[in-house]
Parts: sequence; structure tokens; C-alpha cells
Amino acid sequence: MSFLRKNVIAVHDDFENRRRLNESERSVRLMTAYDKIPELISIDAQLSKTGSEIMAVAMQGKDGLNERLNQVKEKNLALQEKRCALLVANGFPSNYTDIVYRCELCCDYGFVDGKMCKCYRSALIEKQIESSGIGNLIKTQSFDTFNLDFYENKDEMKELVNYLKNHYIPSFEGGVPNLLFAGGTGLGKTHLTTSVARALIEKGYNVVYETAQNIFSDFDKDRFRDRFDENAEILGDKYLEADLLIIDDLGVEMVSGFTKACLYNIINTRTNKNLPIIASTNLTGAEIERLYDQRIKSRLFGDFSIKRFVGQDARTTAKKGRK
Ligand SMILES: Nc1ncnc2c1ncn2[C@@H]1O[C@H](COP(=O)(O)OP(=O)(O)OP(=O)(O)O)[C@@H](O)[C@H]1O
Ligand SMILES: [Mg+2]
Ligand SMILES: [Zn+2]
Repeated sequence: MSFLRKNVIAVHDDFENRRRLNESERSVRLMTAYDKIPELISIDAQLSKTGSEIMAVAMQGKDGLNERLNQVKEKNLALQEKRCALLVANGFPSNYTDIVYRCELCCDYGFVDGKMCKCYRSALIEKQIESSGIGNLIKTQSFDTFNLDFYENKDEMKELVNYLKNHYIPSFEGGVPNLLFAGGTGLGKTHLTTSVARALIEKGYNVVYETAQNIFSDFDKDRFRDRFDENAEILGDKYLEADLLIIDDLGVEMVSGFTKACLYNIINTRTNKNLPIIASTNLTGAEIERLYDQRIKSRLFGDFSIKRFVGQDARTTAKKGRK
């Protein structure tokens, strides 16, 4: 499991900014309140002395200590009550000058007792989704919206969904096979891959989703990258390093010697690192055979468990249903 370093840094910075913003928003409210109720200024000055008063009382010895401490406490409470009453009398809520946290659990620190707060985890997941490349698809596509009625091979598809939900995702850490989703257009291949991506990102895995075309284009850009520019991002690395790589629409790209070498390199490198791939394709076995050479074909068919999607194009079926 690995949240990307750049995402961890971004979330850390977001939380720091959030806390700074909380403070400055509070300052603005405080100034507004002081403006309208000048008496608050002296009350706050007195309240801010509570700490030193306690210290002074403690220094006076043990005799009657509790009583003296209680006096300080009562004075403090009375001031606070007066403060609230003044705010309310002037039309402000009693907590008007308190800091407003977006998360009350961790006061926007992101951690409670050394443990990551759920708000921080959600922020990390949000960032992982952004950097996964899935973008908007993830908002509508999930296992919950995946309908088995589109399929002629409904039993097989049901088995596939069960396998993904109950085996592939829970045992992802221990190693899972490569999957190739094959079938005609509009049959939910992308939908199912994004469903898996979402479930894994929610578990904290780093998933990268991209079309084959864009993946090869990134590797192509890397070929012509300025090798002397140390800051230039190597675009291809994320495809070799992600916990899960989703290659969508394999076979739509212009197949060339370069794209074949890329694909072989991706499959090989990831297999050696025990990092799985889910690929989807419109191509039939015979077409794959025609497009790619033997090495890739045997990699795709040998190392990948092939799942066939058979049925009606959901895009046109849904439209027909709407009429
Ligand atoms: N089984 C399904 N249940 C619910 N919605 C579906 C299903 N299959 C497809 N859809 C919806 O139909 C649209 C097309 O599906 P999707 O993009 O997943 O198809 P695809 O198999 O990837 O097609 P292509 O080969 O053209 O990329 C999407 O909006 C998707 O959410
Ligand atoms: Mg698709
Ligand atoms: Zn929190």
C-alpha cells in the first residue's frame, strides 16, 4: 500500500493551510466583535492571564491551594459567561469568536493520538483519485451501479463481479493475476475497471488508469525529454510503479514497433515486480494475434486471465430504454 509521496505532501500542505485559514478567519471575527463590543478586549486580556494566575497561586504554597485555585477558576468562568452574554446581546452567536474546524475530531491536524484521522484519509484518497487519471468516471461508475442484465453471459459476469469483490480486492496485497477484459464496445469494461480502481484507492492503493494510446504517448514523450533537465518528470514511471495499472482500450492505438516494445516492457517490468495490470480491449483473440507479435500475444494470453464481456452495447440499450 502506498500513498504517492506527492499526494502525501499535498495533503499535508492543505491541512497546514486549512489551519492557517481557520486562524485568520477567527481573527477577522474577533476584530468584528471587538469593534462592536470594546469591553471584550479587556475581558480577553483578563482571560489570557488565567495561566499566570494559576502559576502564582500554586507558588503560594499548599495551604488552601484548592480554594485559591477554585477562586481563579470561578473568576475565569464568570468572565467567560459575561463574554458569551455580551456577544449574544450584540447579536452574535455565543461561539462567534471560536475557531471553526472543518473536522472537530482532529481540529484539522489530521491525526489524533498519532493515528490518522478519517478526514485526512479521505483527503488522501481524494488526491489519489485525482492522480489516478480516472477523473469523473469514478463519480458514476462503481460496483453499486454495475448492472448484470446487459449480458448474454450473465452467469460468467456475475462470477467475475463476485471474484473481483470477494477475492481480487480483498487479497490484492498478497498478489493477484493480470486480467484482460475483452468484448465489444459499450459493454462495461471501463465501468468495471474503474469500479475496481475505486475500491482499491479507497483501501489506500495507488492506482493508475490510462488509455493505451496515452500511455504509449507518454513513453514516447520520455524519449525526447531533455535528459539534462533533472526536474523533468519521467512520465512513463508511474505506469511501471503503480500498485495497479489499468490499461484501457488496448488495440485502439496505432500499433508500431515502439508501442509493442513499450507494452512488452510494461508487462515484463510489472510482472517482475509482482505488480498487476488490468487491460481492456475491443479486440478478439484473432485480432490481437494479427496486431501484436508472438511475445506480446503469449504474454497477454499466457499471463492474463481473460474475462469476456458478451451482450448488448449499454450505451445504445440505455438510450433505447430512455425513449
Ligand atoms: N453493466 C453495466 N451496468 C451499468 N452501466 C453500464 C454497464 N455496462 C456499461 N455501462 C455504462 O455504459 C457506458 C459505456 O460503458 P463502458 O464505457 O464501460 O463500456 P466499454 O466496454 O468500456 O466500451 P468501449 O469498448 O467502447 O470502451 C458507461 O456509461 C457505463 O457506465
Ligand atoms: Mg472502455
Ligand atoms: Zn479529522
